[in-house]
Amino acid sequence: MLIKVLGSAAGGGFPQINCNCANCLDVRLGKPGLAPRSQSSLAVARDGAAWALLNASPDLRQQVAGAPELAPLPGGHTSVRTSPIKAVVLTNGDVDHIAGLLSLREGFAFTIYATARVLDTLAANSIFNVLDRGLVRSVALVPGRPIALAAGGMDLGLTLEAFPVPGKVALYLEDPAAGPGFGTREGDTIGVKVAEPATGAALFYIPGCAAVDRELTDRLRGASLVLFDGTLYSDEEMIAQGLSTKTGRRMGHISMSGREGSLAAFAGLGVKRRVFVHMNNSNPVLRDGSRQRREVEEAGWEVAFDGMEFRL
Ligand code: MLT
Ligand code: MN
Ligand code: ZN
Repeated sequence: MLIKVLGSAAGGGFPQINCNCANCLDVRLGKPGLAPRSQSSLAVARDGAAWALLNASPDLRQQVAGAPELAPLPGGHTSVRTSPIKAVVLTNGDVDHIAGLLSLREGFAFTIYATARVLDTLAANSIFNVLDRGLVRSVALVPGRPIALAAGGMDLGLTLEAFPVPGKVALYLEDPAAGPGFGTREGDTIGVKVAEPATGAALFYIPGCAAVDRELTDRLRGASLVLFDGTLYSDEEMIAQGLSTKTGRRMGHISMSGREGSLAAFAGLGVKRRVFVHMNNSNPVLRDGSRQRREVEEAGWEVAFDGMEFRL
């Protein structure tokens, strides 16, 4: 199985259009030790011929332009308008994960996999009617029921299993009157396991997660590859840097540090390769050699970068 990180930053990207935090300022100036990152997405394939995108970011067009394997093969297809992108899996309804669907409107067949909750959100936003429903099929993911990824009768040779994780409803759907969960419902945030039945290879992808609970711990124990929510290093970093009034918890994102953070939660889980994705531009681990970067690396984590590849 081939896995490519198309975008390793959280919503807003790195640098973010309107941000002059220390990280954004320095990456914009081209200072050493900081690499620009586009917004949150992966691509996976069994053999490199037919790809599934895991989330479709607003930077999708630029990401595909930088990934030759996602371009149409010269002479390799029966029709002129075509793409090796055959499926798009959505882990929530956030803008950084769905807006790229609008860049896939040019007329080719693929399948969207998401929970009923997220598919309902797409259906309720008429701009997504731009996707030709004669070509673009939607499949509702049911947690605990793995399915084969397929498009237009073509089996991608990969299975997909969705599982709910602690999280939050998409920002633009928050209902302040609905109490502490802001109207969060089942299916708002999922993690996915993508497996290759032919070899038994499998990866977990969980770019948004508010907490690592017992169920998730049991699921991930001994996994060979987990790509996990690396939005923030500390819960209050956006407040401390004057960027926002929200904590990580309020945004539905666990932090790396702290007693309830991801470093502590994964310690002793025996996950062979653990990789942070979906880093917010405020996160000090984005700076090579920072104290926080050294700390996560010493704890056995990698910090994803755009173009990072894995072969399982
Ligand atoms: C998040 O990950 O918290 C969201 O992408 C926020 C947003 O929609 O901007
Ligand atoms: Mn996000
Ligand atoms: Zn910034």
